[in-house]
Amino acid sequence: RGDQATVQDLAGRHVVISAGGTREPLDPVRFLGNRSSGKQGYALARTAVARGARVTLLAANATLPDPAGVDVVHVGTAVQLREAVLEAAPEADAVVMAAAVADFRPETYATGKIKKKDGQEPEPIVLVRNPDILAELSADRPRPGQIVVGFAAETDDVLANGRKKLARKGCDLLVVNEVGERKTFGSEENEAVLLGADGSETPVPYGPKEVVSDTIWDEVVRLLPIGDA
Ligand code: CTP
Ligand code: CA
Repeated sequence: RGDQATVQDLAGRHVVISAGGTREPLDPVRFLGNRSSGKQGYALARTAVARGARVTLLAANATLPDPAGVDVVHVGTAVQLREAVLEAAPEADAVVMAAAVADFRPETYATGKIKKKDGQEPEPIVLVRNPDILAELSADRPRPGQIVVGFAAETDDVLANGRKKLARKGCDLLVVNEVGERKTFGSEENEAVLLGADGSETPVPYGPKEVVSDTIWDEVVRLLPIGDA
């Protein structure tokens, strides 16, 4: 794994990874966001570099230091992340969507700070759907043979929901996490099951996010067409 002399099985490959969580602004001082720390996506970037890949990391509001040897593009909103993914993806052998993308954004952005009004209840916040970047990329592969990987954090019927989501998104691999106390958000560790569109099911026991990352790259290497696409 990553701490040993690492096999260069991603040499000559270019991988694009999204990390962190998008923020959808309401006004110049407020946003709707989520608890994603970016740690899983950054661990994916480090482990891919260790295995010889060229890595582009699309970082949504992550405050972690830029990993050595990685091209980092910082983005804010889901719409900006979509643009960055669509720009980077045509050259990528694999795209891994580890970012937590906001499903909705406020319909309107107030260019001035929203203020309280004496004796009045607040205005409701109207939300609209964001584009589904993973589904769009999976349906419309910009490069033949490209491997597309999604993530899903689930609370109930984790595997059944994961299989449904994999089919709905159309990606090649879905990394399913069960959301729990010590796992997933902000944690250094994670536990996952990797579901393949080919029916494969690869459990990853609770451990560092690097181990989950290396298991994802093992699966990507297995699925990638031999030689260059
Ligand atoms: N994703 C995306 N664009 C979105 C929402 C999600 O690309 N607008 C990606 C995430 O990066 C992740 C995967 O889709 O890799 C699954 O995200 P998830 O939130 O679990 O899926 P949803 O389809 O939004 O389902 P849910 O209603 O359970 O939130
Ligand atoms: Ca979602």
